[in-house]
Amino acid sequence: MLDFLKQDQDPLTGKVMRKVRSFVLREGRLTAGQQRALDTLWPRFGLERSSGELDAVAVFGRDAPRVLEIGYGMGQSLVQMATAEPDKDFIGIEVHRPGVGSLLMAIEEAGISNLRSYCDDAVEILELCIVDNSLARVQLYFPDPWHKKKHHKRRIVQPAWLQLVQRKLAPGGMLHMATDWQDYAVHMLEMMQAESGWENQAKDGHYVERPQWRPETKFERRGAGLGHGVWDLLYQKQ
Ligand SMILES: C[S@@+](CC[C@H](N)C(=O)[O-])C[C@H]1O[C@@H](n2cnc3c(N)ncnc32)[C@H](O)[C@@H]1O
Repeated sequence: MLDFLKQDQDPLTGKVMRKVRSFVLREGRLTAGQQRALDTLWPRFGLERSSGELDAVAVFGRDAPRVLEIGYGMGQSLVQMATAEPDKDFIGIEVHRPGVGSLLMAIEEAGISNLRSYCDDAVEILELCIVDNSLARVQLYFPDPWHKKKHHKRRIVQPAWLQLVQRKLAPGGMLHMATDWQDYAVHMLEMMQAESGWENQAKDGHYVERPQWRPETKFERRGAGLGHGVWDLLYQKQ
């Protein structure tokens, strides 16, 4: 877990290459429950980058449509979705360990078997572990907005990331994004419009209504309390 935190070194020169990541790791304190969940439930529900390419049929014991969520926070809404859609298998990726611990507790409490999680950088897991053309849906809900212009390069939604997601989705698969930061919503829309091979599920240049499968998330609730709006984007891979 989190072995990617070892500094990235150029194998030839030994020079440290600092990657621009979409998060700053806050180790945050684990509650006793989260720590216990990480100790006891990780072997059952955790996925490791060191296992290489994910053999989802072996992991879930069946070949069902697969939904991947990036940055699920504390995981309540992801567990809600996996419970509501038992015919699908869910893969979460979250870098914040307290969130992963909290997801594991919620999986156990819900008694579901169709959800697993990585505790890692989602960009690298997509590249290294997820098979091309294998996902039915990719979900990115309320990604860190990186408000300041000088930090926009940290936003996860960038052309290279969109092309990576497109490669991992099966034909006809969906990319679903939501944000409560209008400037980021516009950024997402512009990025999508500049890419090819996607069909906006709303009219061109528009957002969709929140699809019924997305429950309100914790971050969304906090934003609503501050008077923020919400923008959902839904695109199908051609
Ligand atoms: C603003 S929070 C939103 C959490 C949740 N989706 C919600 O709506 O309540 C963004 C989350 O994305 C996670 N995150 C950001 N970049 C990530 C990455 N590259 N890989 C995995 N998790 C990431 C952060 O740790 C954080 O928990």
